[in-house]
Amino acid sequence: MTRLIFLGAPGAGKGTQAQRLSAESQVPHISTGDILRTAVAKQTDLGKKAAHYMNAGELVPDDLILDLIRERLGQADATNGWILDGFPRNVSQANFLDGLLEEIQQPCDFVLNLDVPDEVLVTRLLSRGRQDDTEAVIRNRLAVYREQTEPLIDFYRGRQQLVSVNGNQPMDAVTAELKRVIAA
Ligand code: AP5
Repeated sequence: MTRLIFLGAPGAGKGTQAQRLSAESQVPHISTGDILRTAVAKQTDLGKKAAHYMNAGELVPDDLILDLIRERLGQADATNGWILDGFPRNVSQANFLDGLLEEIQQPCDFVLNLDVPDEVLVTRLLSRGRQDDTEAVIRNRLAVYREQTEPLIDFYRGRQQLVSVNGNQPMDAVTAELKRVIAA
């Protein structure tokens, strides 16, 4: 059983590593960013509401995200584990998730924080070139991360679940370190 939450700044490698561990452990990789980008591409109601926040590098309002997570974690493929990437993103999402995981009796095993210096993050994202990877939007995403998401490191630190890993090393080295952590 694998139930993991990835924390880390934009470009820290959450998606990359979550995808690798998901393939290895056969549990779904649940990325709120990917879910939202699909909704934007399909021009669903959710996508229409979310697009302008995403393009500005702001968080999408919680009321657009919370039901989506409840529904996704309730799907059949998530009963035996999951890897969350991009959720929770602020303290109110983390409190919501606490309540939800208790309700569905699926405690999280580890909160994995990927640590990467800002300038490395900016370089990585500029060379990726997603729609929200322009320099101004990246700087705002980093500011939003510092203000709203980084406090989750302390939120989880007290619970013996948080493990910080150096994300500023080759992808395979990061994966190997993460695998060591979750096998412990
Ligand atoms: P989201 O999709 O979650 O984006 P993000 O947090 O900004 O993260 P990224 O996808 O940019 O980075 P990552 O850490 O996953 O790194 P990756 O593996 O891709 O969110 C986008 C937007 O959606 C938000 O701004 C917000 O508007 C909205 N949103 C999403 N969730 C929300 C929520 N819960 N609440 C409210 N709003 C929400 O890697 C990045 C690049 O680096 C890639 O090119 C990769 O190949 C490369 N790379 C990765 N690892 C390494 C390595 N070790 N060495 C060298 N290069 C590497």
